[in-house]
Amino acid sequence: MKKIIALVLAAMLVCTSAVMFTSCGAEEGKKELHMATNAFFEPYEYYDGDKVVGIDAEIAEAICEKLGYELVIDDMDFDSIITAVTSGKADFGMAGMTVTDERLESVDFTDSYTTATQVIIVPEENSKVKGIDDLESASIGVQLGTTGDIYVSDEYEKSGAKIERFNKGADAVLALTQGKVDAVVIDNEPAKAFVAQNDGIKILDDPFADEDYAICVAKDSELTEQINTALSELKEDGTVKKIIDKYIGD
Ligand code: ARG
Repeated sequence: MKKIIALVLAAMLVCTSAVMFTSCGAEEGKKELHMATNAFFEPYEYYDGDKVVGIDAEIAEAICEKLGYELVIDDMDFDSIITAVTSGKADFGMAGMTVTDERLESVDFTDSYTTATQVIIVPEENSKVKGIDDLESASIGVQLGTTGDIYVSDEYEKSGAKIERFNKGADAVLALTQGKVDAVVIDNEPAKAFVAQNDGIKILDDPFADEDYAICVAKDSELTEQINTALSELKEDGTVKKIIDKYIGD
């Protein structure tokens, strides 16, 4: 009798530990890849409820699936992304991020997955800024640490432009709709989303600065090559195009 009880107990123990093991195992089995982003940049990354969606989120998901990782998205200020990657807090940064020589000094970039331009948003009526040259003496809203910020700071701050730097593009656009700045310089697709969401503003015809978007990774990380392989497969089989087309109508 004692033996039987012992056996049953032992069997129960094995079962519970097996159950515990598999249930934890299922969650921990797949290693995570942390993506640093700034999720206020529709259509590349933005919130739908409490979920981050968009072109970057979906391409990252497809890459992680190919590489056998679980994707975790870490939302932060745009100007914290590179530090998150260099410090190892995040495995890669993907945020409609433009490849620049300055950034290449601290991180590596994967192959580019799409291109963009910087554009100027102004009030629909009585705009002080009618063309790119008018930026010289304007007050310009930008998102802190973005290429828009870098270009106008380099080009127009000396000539008397006043640069107002915001943590979110949306805050720069809000300042524009309130008449607190004369123009906003930002990437073309988010600009279109802002114009669609706000009355009384428009995008000027002359865009400037063509850019390549890519994923940033820690210098000399083996992830670069892994991501590039996955990315080229996803480009070849049409997945990247399908994701971009889903979010960018025309
Ligand atoms: N393309 C610009 C840059 O790399 C702006 C990117 C802003 N991205 C964002 N998720 N807020 O500087």
